[in-house]
Amino acid sequence: MLFKQQVLLRQKLFVLGSLAIGSLLYLVARVGSLDRLQPLCPIDGRFGPRGQDEIPLRALQFKRGLLHEFRKGNATKEQIRLHNLVQQLPKAIIIGVRKGGTRALLEMLNLHPAVVKASQEIHFFDNDENYAKGIEWYRKKMPFSYPHQITIEKSPAYFITEEVPERIYKMNSSIKLLIIVREPTTRAISDYTQVLEGKERKNKTYYKFEKLAIDPNTCEVNTKYKAVRTSIYTKHLERWLKYFPIEQFHIVDGDRLITEPLPELQLVEKFLNLPPRISQYNLYFNATRGFYCLRFNIVFNKCLAGSKGRIHPEVDTSVITKLRKFFHPFNQKFYQITGRTFNWP
Ligand code: A3P
Repeated sequence: MLFKQQVLLRQKLFVLGSLAIGSLLYLVARVGSLDRLQPLCPIDGRFGPRGQDEIPLRALQFKRGLLHEFRKGNATKEQIRLHNLVQQLPKAIIIGVRKGGTRALLEMLNLHPAVVKASQEIHFFDNDENYAKGIEWYRKKMPFSYPHQITIEKSPAYFITEEVPERIYKMNSSIKLLIIVREPTTRAISDYTQVLEGKERKNKTYYKFEKLAIDPNTCEVNTKYKAVRTSIYTKHLERWLKYFPIEQFHIVDGDRLITEPLPELQLVEKFLNLPPRISQYNLYFNATRGFYCLRFNIVFNKCLAGSKGRIHPEVDTSVITKLRKFFHPFNQKFYQITGRTFNWP
């Protein structure tokens, strides 16, 4: 009898203990989100009405994924009406550069309560077939958001595709354009590594980087190789500048985004006229991944997929030197045009 009572008492204590721990966890999680519920400074002009000084709690739940079905475009008409949700054209686009850290930048900006990301690369402006479907098709590809939030999409192919600047200009001549760059030779090798992995997955063989990057006839840098051409940032930027003034661009240092993301993100917040909301709390270094990962709150965090942060193959040092020498004058021009200098060799 006594034994039975002891068992019952233990069970009661267990239930009470679980409830207490559950409540405690809930409270900590709430404090975490309340911390992010501090009133927002007004979001400037282009990005919505002034005086919108608070992100409603449901916006944060929305960002945490509780209403994630909205983001996938599955919201019912009733839900859309109830939450006053809209699909907005992007106010800012990450136009490139491929392998510069475009995904990391988009995901990290998405930590901001006033930012909503288009999860997929939409390839509207660089793909003729998509472009022919019209702007409404593009808008319908955007995630649902609250009217005071801004939508950002990224399609790195935009940066290098001839027709894109004019097409984006026609949609919105005052749009903000983000370009994330890395040291050009490293970026080219990263680009090669991605293609190489694709070939390996299909059990195909592929050339060594050295063979593609250097023309065997002239022993000079092979400017026909796409990975090399993409890294000549200034050439591409000059095409964009025929449509947009340099003030509409912000250059993100992709190498710094890897090692020290917060200051880079703070510069983007400023460029987008967003109140500073991304903090060190939102970014933690994951030693296993070797990269910073994202923390939305105490229960919701994530690292980028394994396809980001691949191990690069070793490349002959003479080829690296040759490439760096080749990129040098283009880099100087890029610094001059953008007003942002990097320590690229
Ligand atoms: P590597 O795979 O060469 O390391 P993109 O998204 O434009 O394809 O860029 C991919 C690059 O983003 C990766 O290149 C990686 O170095 C970089 N990156 C920057 N921050 C990262 C992060 N927090 N997690 C993973 N990769 C990150």
